[in-house]
This record gives sequence, C-alpha cells and structure tokens, in this order.
Amino acid sequence: MEKIQVTIDGPAGAGKSSVSKILAQRLGYVYIDTGAMYRTLTYSAIKEKVDFSDIDSIIKLLTSIEINFGLDQETGTQKVFCNDQDVTDLIRSPEVNQKVSIIAAILEVRNIMVLRQREIAQNNNVVMDGRDIGTVVLPNAKYKFYLTASLEERAKRRAKELEAKGYKIDLEKLIVEIKTRDNMDTQREYSPLKPASDAIIIDSSKINLEQVIGSIINYIKEDDINV
Ligand code: DC
Repeated sequence: MEKIQVTIDGPAGAGKSSVSKILAQRLGYVYIDTGAMYRTLTYSAIKEKVDFSDIDSIIKLLTSIEINFGLDQETGTQKVFCNDQDVTDLIRSPEVNQKVSIIAAILEVRNIMVLRQREIAQNNNVVMDGRDIGTVVLPNAKYKFYLTASLEERAKRRAKELEAKGYKIDLEKLIVEIKTRDNMDTQREYSPLKPASDAIIIDSSKINLEQVIGSIINYIKEDDINV
C-alpha cells in the first residue's frame, strides 16, 4: 500500500519538531527530524576535526556514518544515534547551531540526505520535518504544511529550550544568530527554504502548540489516521 507522507517545513524555532512529534504520535506515523540528520553530520565533522571547506572529506565522513532514530523506552522520547552513539543532546549545542548551515548548504551532502530521507518515507507513513521536504524531498506528499512565526517569538522559544538544557542565553544574540541562519537557509543556492506552492501555511506566532496541531489534523482525512 502506498505510504502516507506529511511534510512540515519552516524556519528555525517555528515549532516544527514539537508539532511533528505529537502529530506523528496521534496519526500513528513515524516522525523523521531531517534537521537532526544535518546536525549529526555537523557534530561528527566537529568531533573528527574535518575542515568544513573540504567537501570530499565531509562526504567521506557522511558515507561512513549511519544516522538512526530510536525511541527511549522509558520516556517515550525520540533519540538520535550516530553509529551507536546517542547524540540526541550533543547535536543541539550552540557550536552545532552555528555551523550546521554550512553543512546544509553543500549540494553533495543534500543529495545523499535526500536519498536517505526518501528511502525512509517509502517504507513508513511519515511526518517529516525540515526545510525542503515539501519542495524537494517528497514533492508528491499527500499533506504539506509550512509552519512559521515571528523572529522574536521563535528566538524566545529557542531560548527557553536551550535554557532548559542548562545553556545561558543572551536573547539579542540569539535573535541575530537565528536571523543569520534564516538568511543562509532561504538564500542558499540549493533547496532554499520556501513554502511548496501547494503547502498550507500556518503562522504560530499567536496560537499555541495544541491549536497548531488541531488545525493540521483538521486537514487530515479520517481514513489516514492510525492506518
Ligand atoms: O531544523 P533544525 O534547526 O534542526 O535544522 C538544522 C539546520 O539544517 C538548519 O540550518 C537548516 C538545515 N536543514 C536543511 O537545510 N534541510 C532540512 N531538510 C532540514 C534542516
């Protein structure tokens, strides 16, 4: 049977991963956080001290690592593994935040990531979040959403997330960092961040998580829930 694909694209801090995680649970689908895949490669490159301008070495590294998602049995939260190492928290560090856009702008990296992402979506009903899912990775997806929010609101949400993990945050600095990343993501040559022409756009600046999820679920046909 053909698999059902829900795509959630949008800028950093728009709430994609929180929305996608819960949505996937409610629909009974697999949640794939494609940003975590770019982050895992970035983390590995930092750890292995690979020169970020040396594309051949970055590709060699990517083809040597396996990026997997798994469920923490105790908490029910999603874990990200690089080979067998649990990198869930390591890939959210400020250093990875700063460098991931460089990795995500490399065409050769994107081509490999897209193939891996399509393979997962061929075998599972998925909620896949990222920047190019509705436009490039799964252009024929049944349901496409583009989640956005004001820059200030997104920075505040990211600050809260990072502070909960023990990082000390300067909000003004974070706003500049997110803006820089937005610019790199929207202006890059390959697969820039933009809504697919057939995506439903949801602005979450003034509505809460549950309201966003509710409005998305309204678009999903009943037959496609818990299939
Ligand atoms: O969603 P995130 O913040 O975890 O994404 C990390 C980076 O990866 C971000 O700079 C954009 C990039 N990315 C991308 O280019 N394409 C995707 N499908 C997902 C993320």
